[in-house]
Amino acid sequence: MSNPITSTLDNDQQKIVGDALQATVVDLIDLSLIAKQAHWNVIGQNFRSVHLALDELVAAARDFTDEAAERATAIGVSPDGRAATVARDSGTKGIGDGWTKDSEIIASIVGNLAALIDRLRNRITSTEKADPVTQDLLISITARLEQLHWMWQAQIA
Ligand SMILES: [Fe+2]
Repeated sequence: MSNPITSTLDNDQQKIVGDALQATVVDLIDLSLIAKQAHWNVIGQNFRSVHLALDELVAAARDFTDEAAERATAIGVSPDGRAATVARDSGTKGIGDGWTKDSEIIASIVGNLAALIDRLRNRITSTEKADPVTQDLLISITARLEQLHWMWQAQIA
């Protein structure tokens, strides 16, 4: 299909920003899947608080996925959130299968959040000139993920 949605950005800006948003969509979809996998498989003394905190993370990841995807659409870029695309392009650290102790789950979530935050901070830099509006969204997503990164670390500090 041609381009039914026009962009207010020029081609170079649109490419930079579209790539940043697409990569963010993919990372956040994977984060939501990882957090649900952990939500179902966590065991241990802190089961309940970790189980509940994981759904808080799922909610944040899903909300931000939608915001990033719809920012892409607003600049005329078609987002791709298909499972195969996520499996190919995600920059998370993933998560192991099977029942997993709460302390291991927490370490895994902290590691995944750190990896995603690092990637987001690179995109904050790359979008600074190309599109400050998108940069603003990436900053707000990163701020919330860094808050969660703190909260998850605090559970085992
Ligand atoms: Fe649940």
